[in-house]
Amino acid sequence: MLAVMRIAGSRIWVTGASSGIGAALARELEGRGAHVAISARRKDKLDEVAGGRMHVEPVDVTDKDAMLAAADSIRSAFGGIDVVVLNAGAWDQVRVDRWDSEVFRRHFDVNLMGVVHGVESVLPAMLEARAGLIVGIASVAGYRGLPNSEAYGTTKAAQINLLESLRVDLRRHGVKVQTVCPGFVKTEMTERNTFPMPFIVSAERAAREIAEGIAKEKPEVVFPLPMMLLMKTARFVPVAAWGALLSRAARRR
Ligand SMILES: NC(=O)c1ccc[n+]([C@@H]2O[C@H](COP(=O)([O-])OP(=O)(O)OC[C@H]3O[C@@H](n4cnc5c(N)ncnc54)[C@H](OP(=O)(O)O)[C@@H]3O)[C@@H](O)[C@H]2O)c1
Repeated sequence: MLAVMRIAGSRIWVTGASSGIGAALARELEGRGAHVAISARRKDKLDEVAGGRMHVEPVDVTDKDAMLAAADSIRSAFGGIDVVVLNAGAWDQVRVDRWDSEVFRRHFDVNLMGVVHGVESVLPAMLEARAGLIVGIASVAGYRGLPNSEAYGTTKAAQINLLESLRVDLRRHGVKVQTVCPGFVKTEMTERNTFPMPFIVSAERAAREIAEGIAKEKPEVVFPLPMMLLMKTARFVPVAAWGALLSRAARRR
């Protein structure tokens, strides 16, 4: 049976909360009575989201020392951190005719090392308390290789694997781990996309799905349902058929 967590009164830190899913989630959680701390690089945007009702902690997730200091500052303000939502992320298309390792480095630094730094900044205190929930916002893009997603998809697949290993290792320590895989969500990240984005949902809808997942302490949250069914099924499509299928779809576009 799934445990049920009280969001009201919980101390929750959301990274990447200056826009999109993180901002909507911070508002949703604050509306449900949580003490919310929010982070990202753009302080003016964080202040807007907070509206004076959240703790604002600007930080770049790629900077390990700054992340450790940010977590300390939030623990001092709240007396502890019950839930961390590691949501900060970046997305850029890879072009095979303009292969650039810097694009990969940026994705790895933000999407992967950002999560690793986030875990490092909360884990010792959670281990000591034998309690806590670590939520990682990955993506269904981590399930299969998608066009132009060589950098982003790699980091999302790595996040899914990292969180799964962590869940196993933390089980006996009383710390829970949740993997969130959204489909397409309407945010700053997707507004530049020119390709079709089936089943796209609003950031507010995404926030509600994630908040419900947190409340139920689910190990995995995937939404929306049609995208979950599509991408979970896609995992079983043989490699040769997957390549042919996507090339045909790209040619049709
Ligand atoms: N939108 C989708 O369709 C979709 C689907 C699946 C998964 N996701 C995932 O959901 C998460 C949120 O994305 P979103 O769609 O809400 O995009 P978004 O609106 O662009 O938000 C990204 C957030 O990450 C922050 N961020 C980026 N680099 C950072 C850094 N170095 N340090 C600290 N914060 C940083 C940004 O804030 P600053 O620029 O102020 O630092 C912003 O708050 C990402 O992990 C993304 O991969 C999105």
